Amino acid sequence: MASIDLSTTFLGLRLSNPFMTGASPLPDHLDTARRLEDAGCAAIVLHSLFEEQISQAETGRIHHRDPLDPQFPVVAYFPPPDSYALGPEEYLEHIRRLKEAVRIPVIGSLNGTTAEVWLNFAKRIEQAGADALELNMYEVVTEPDQSGLAVEQSLRQIVQDLKHELKIPIAVKLSPFFTAFANVAHELERAGAAGLVLFNRFLQPDVDLEHLTVWPRLELSTSAELLLRLRWLAILRGQLRCSLAATGGVATPNDGIKALLAGADVVQMVSAIMRHGPSYFAVMQSELRRWMESMEFARIDDIRGRLSLAKTDAPDAFERAQYIRTVSGWRSWLGYQAYVRAHEKDKSKPPS
Ligand SMILES: Cc1cc2nc3c(=O)[nH]c(=O)nc-3n(C[C@H](O)[C@H](O)[C@H](O)COP(=O)(O)O)c2cc1C
Repeated sequence: MASIDLSTTFLGLRLSNPFMTGASPLPDHLDTARRLEDAGCAAIVLHSLFEEQISQAETGRIHHRDPLDPQFPVVAYFPPPDSYALGPEEYLEHIRRLKEAVRIPVIGSLNGTTAEVWLNFAKRIEQAGADALELNMYEVVTEPDQSGLAVEQSLRQIVQDLKHELKIPIAVKLSPFFTAFANVAHELERAGAAGLVLFNRFLQPDVDLEHLTVWPRLELSTSAELLLRLRWLAILRGQLRCSLAATGGVATPNDGIKALLAGADVVQMVSAIMRHGPSYFAVMQSELRRWMESMEFARIDDIRGRLSLAKTDAPDAFERAQYIRTVSGWRSWLGYQAYVRAHEKDKSKPPS
């Protein structure tokens, strides 16, 4: 069979293969970034620079408030400026150094939720040489007066404003928790997003029973988190023209192949690389190549979205039918279990 071509396109950037790092501290050291590239990682996303970090560095304030003002003790929940891995200026310098150290695309990441001045920093990330910008809209909306529509409009406005300012492509990393996610995805594409990154993981604090406190809990993901991503990649693949990235729960080469079949252009990985090291990118590629060979696929285009709902006339009816079949199938599953138990009892009887 002719040689297998793993190349793909993400945000208009040509990549040698579909496996890249997700936003994380993985490329914080130049040596690690080089090791990632050597192992075949196709692109890197830097860890995020936070809205609060930029606002505090530029204005001394967080959400327009003075962190030292005892009237707003809540602002003191945020870490002090020197506890972040890189301050805003160091972040820019790191992009410049990374661009000299590796040839793969380097993507900057901003994390924030308001359409405020901190967004001007995106221009500086572009000027520092980033090939693209990933915007992480991590937000848990607790304000009872804030409607879903208002939240969505604000996200769209941010993307629209950034698109106006930047020449580099913008990817938007989102949570799945919207009432009508397909509509949100379309609106962001219309606002100028070149790609969507599905999905943010919500880090859920746990309760410490001994000290009666709440503590932040960060656990590496497992394949169990992948299914939600597969569903939405499959739904959106045929609806959107922008790039789609899977992030969350790609723990093995088979997970990566599933994400491509569902419709991902690229697969972002963090937990698996933290567990196994940069060389895992070589494993991801060789296993993908082996599987494609066994299935007689020659190019990523042959598999991308092959199991998506792109050719389904009514994805919502399909989704609902699947749900009903699964839930009704439960009864036959119980029947099957009863059959197995009865059969095992029979086997334990002495032969007559
Ligand atoms: C240690 C660590 C740091 C992370 N930092 C960021 C970050 O700065 N910005 C961001 O958007 N995502 C961040 N993430 C989330 C990852 O980019 C990714 O979306 C998530 O871990 C799911 O992918 P995975 O299952 O491959 O780990 C971080 C994840 C980890 C484990």
